[in-house]
Amino acid sequence: MAAIETAALTKKFNGFVAVDGINLKIKKGELFALLGPNGAGKTTTISMLSTLLKPTSGKALVNGHDVVKEAAKVRQSIGIVFQDPSLDDQLTAMENLDIHGRLYHMAGNERRKRIREVLEMVDLADRADSIVKTFSGGMRRRLEIARGLMHSPEVLFLDEPTLGLDPQTRRHIWDYIKKLNREGVTVLLTTHYMEEADALADRVVIIDRGRIVAEGTPSSLKDSIGGDVIKISCSKPEELKKAMEKCECDITSEPRITEEGLVINVKKAEEVIPKIFDISAKNSIEVKSITYKEPSLEDVFLHYTGRAYREEEGSEKDRLKMRMRVMRGRR
Ligand SMILES: Nc1ncnc2c1ncn2[C@@H]1O[C@H](COP(=O)(O)OP(=O)(O)O)[C@@H](O)[C@H]1O
Ligand SMILES: [Mg+2]
Repeated sequence: MAAIETAALTKKFNGFVAVDGINLKIKKGELFALLGPNGAGKTTTISMLSTLLKPTSGKALVNGHDVVKEAAKVRQSIGIVFQDPSLDDQLTAMENLDIHGRLYHMAGNERRKRIREVLEMVDLADRADSIVKTFSGGMRRRLEIARGLMHSPEVLFLDEPTLGLDPQTRRHIWDYIKKLNREGVTVLLTTHYMEEADALADRVVIIDRGRIVAEGTPSSLKDSIGGDVIKISCSKPEELKKAMEKCECDITSEPRITEEGLVINVKKAEEVIPKIFDISAKNSIEVKSITYKEPSLEDVFLHYTGRAYREEEGSEKDRLKMRMRVMRGRR
């Protein structure tokens, strides 16, 4: 049985399609990432899987339980760490965990034992009696992860687990996530950080505008776009594109004009770059810069969506766009 399985899972808000027919299959024990820019539909997806939002259509099973018909069973078998902080600042670490244990009807001695275990898991045992207000961002995140683990869930959902943390703290959180996954917890995390998905996940689904655009292990995704990525900034990208399409080089996918210039995937950059200079010279195209590298998940995103990936793309802007689309839809 899969830990999570969805079929055409869809969520609409007043006609705006936030999640558009997503099919997922996540095995037990996997560390799985939903990767996408702000507004892609990650939180909405995780909210449906954790029974906080009802799907508009489609189906989802979590640990074999239907998220709509067996919501209580689903909730019992999952832990959630929300994108937005949700600890009580005025209480101690221990008290925050204790409340959670009570909500899950854990008996007193069971609660106390488990609190010790989960605090140890995230290296906060010595801070059990400290008020959360005194914690750093990284410590709060760890405590939230500990809380998500209190009732020993089979699946842990982490919505943007390192959002807003500095790079060093982020790496620490990655270590904790890897550790608890090794100990048997299935993890579904969402992130808009490419390197986070790359560094952490066994398997990645890239979503954009509510749809899955690519899926695989980080390395298979990078391999799927073939070889090196060359970016050329030049005076006449359209002309260079046409000329490159005719040239006899090992181009592995159709050249694309993006905000960053002409992008070409090739088998070996060293062999193609001299030809680019030749062709530009013959066609009086002024080359401003040429860069090449092995593909990253960013290039994978660019490849499958035709758009550059912007980590900082504001969700406020997306909301506005969404509202405008909804308003247009109503007319
Ligand atoms: N409650 C809601 N009402 C209306 N629109 C929403 C609501 N929640 C999310 N959206 C919209 O749905 C889209 C997906 O949002 P979300 O799932 O939060 O994306 P992500 O988590 O990937 O950033 C966005 O355009 C967002 O503005
Ligand atoms: Mg989100």
